Amino acid sequence: MAEVTLDLRHLPKPAAYSELDTHLDVVLEGIRDPIAIMATMSALLHHGFGHLWTGFYRVTEPGRTLLVGPYQGTLGCLEISFGRGVCGTAAAEGRTVVVPDVQLFEDHIVCDARARSEIVVPVFDAAHGVFAVLDIDADVPNAFEDADARGLERLVKRFARVT
Ligand code: SME
Repeated sequence: MAEVTLDLRHLPKPAAYSELDTHLDVVLEGIRDPIAIMATMSALLHHGFGHLWTGFYRVTEPGRTLLVGPYQGTLGCLEISFGRGVCGTAAAEGRTVVVPDVQLFEDHIVCDARARSEIVVPVFDAAHGVFAVLDIDADVPNAFEDADARGLERLVKRFARVT
């Protein structure tokens, strides 16, 4: 078993995501259950980067509803409609949404009032449908940049191999 958790904060982001991807390969060897993968990825991302909230919303009604999945952090909103908030926008449009300042995103849904910036990455299944979204909140503005979008998009590709 690899070490229990990682501290990725000292690394440049591309290297941090690459290290995390390798770590996930080891920890998740032989595991094909998407919920187990979501839980493991949430824990490693959350503690590795020191985020405020890290987790998944799963598509329970395609094109309509997201329901909270495995996460780390304070209580998350339970249900989000497609097209609503940052998560629903990423799910409806099938693209990563980076929000440098949540106060400037008109339809931002507040789950933890300490959140200042956010990134939401769509998770695609093997048939290229949106299967879930990965949502990360930080307690500082401008926490996420292009390197996070690319790194996280790469991490969630593993779901297309098990769905
Ligand atoms: N802020 C999100 C809602 C989910 S929480 O951040 C955990 C949104 O606007 O979709």
